[in-house]
Amino acid sequence: MKHLCFFCLYALVILHGLECVLPQTPSYGERGSDLGIQVFQQLVRSKPLENVVFSPHGVASILGMLLPGAHGETRKQIISGLRYKKNGPYKMLKKLHKTLTAKSNQDAVLIANAIFSQQGFPMEESFVNTNKDNFRTETRSLDFSKPQVAANEINEWVNNKTKGHIPSLINPEMLDATLTRLVAVNSIYFKGLWKSRFQPMNTKMRPFTGGDGNVYSVPMMSQLSVFNICMATTPQGLKYKVIELPYHGNTISMLIVLPSDEDTPLSRVIPHISTATVQSWTKMMRLRKVHLVIPKFTADAEVDLKASLSALGITDIFSEDKADFRHLSAEPLHVSKALQKAKIVVNEDGTKAAAATTAILLARSSPPWVTVDRPFLFLIRHNPTGTILFMGQINQP
Ligand SMILES: *[C@@H]1O[C@H](CO)[C@@H](O)[C@H](O)[C@H]1NC(C)=O
Repeated sequence: MKHLCFFCLYALVILHGLECVLPQTPSYGERGSDLGIQVFQQLVRSKPLENVVFSPHGVASILGMLLPGAHGETRKQIISGLRYKKNGPYKMLKKLHKTLTAKSNQDAVLIANAIFSQQGFPMEESFVNTNKDNFRTETRSLDFSKPQVAANEINEWVNNKTKGHIPSLINPEMLDATLTRLVAVNSIYFKGLWKSRFQPMNTKMRPFTGGDGNVYSVPMMSQLSVFNICMATTPQGLKYKVIELPYHGNTISMLIVLPSDEDTPLSRVIPHISTATVQSWTKMMRLRKVHLVIPKFTADAEVDLKASLSALGITDIFSEDKADFRHLSAEPLHVSKALQKAKIVVNEDGTKAAAATTAILLARSSPPWVTVDRPFLFLIRHNPTGTILFMGQINQP
């Protein structure tokens, strides 16, 4: 019997032809980007009670793809939005891409990038080459004058790259038969088996108090095991627990964030989360034997990125007048739409290795209980690089 965890995700941007420009010289920065987490915070602010699943890395990737085409203020906004320091963003994104797609990760993480451009649309060679070098971006030409056919082709690519988990990303109405020039797509697929698996027979219906205050009966998995755990505090003094659930292979973990006080809404803790916060947990983590109870859950979400990115200062890419992608093509372009769809399924997973792990834990007595029976936050981190591949909030599993 085999249970798998799937995470799919991607981001997309559609560029339309238009006009207007500004000059300026480029500058760079680097290190793990915080932008995706900031976007997540923007998103959940407007939906504090919904389930949200999102890929921070997908947002950074799509902007990383556009960056070599950008100039002047447009470029500056992307770079400062990505919050990279030192050495140039490509170097960092390229290194990340290389690490994330390394042989040892290939079973778990599949990242793919593509640029679909209008037949005959002349792109700058350096833009295409930079994308190929940094992200192995493939370029394909399409005929956007047939929006349905073009959308089908893009969706089929996404469906292939996400192994069927995101069957459709764009609809034909998002494409303009005469103005669409380019669609950039990033896809991330992740499959991980828990290092310490849950036994299906231990999954029971248990109460979970939703973000809306109602109590729901949901399937809760449980296991007695040793996990990395820490207690952290927000600057406002709110305490929360962090529990790390490693996946098989040990390079990727899910981190569960649970406010310690039942009355503390998740929304009071989320603004405190950043790559620096996540990094700080690593130092505080201690292995502890606990009886972990956590819901099985699935979630999917579609998010329009325009409002969030704009709120974070990345505005010019969306402006017909201000967008400056002169290094992408001679024809002025701007971003008409930026969106992301994501999906997550979490369950018990395989059984034999779980039995082995659980056996060790059973040797100890009266371990404390950690019951995730209230809204919680999750993050899926590639540990060696600190990249947050996915994050989400679960208000009702
Ligand atoms: C999707 O995968 C199938 C089977 O490998 C392939 O024939 C098809 O060309 C792929 N589609 C796209 C759009 O890449």
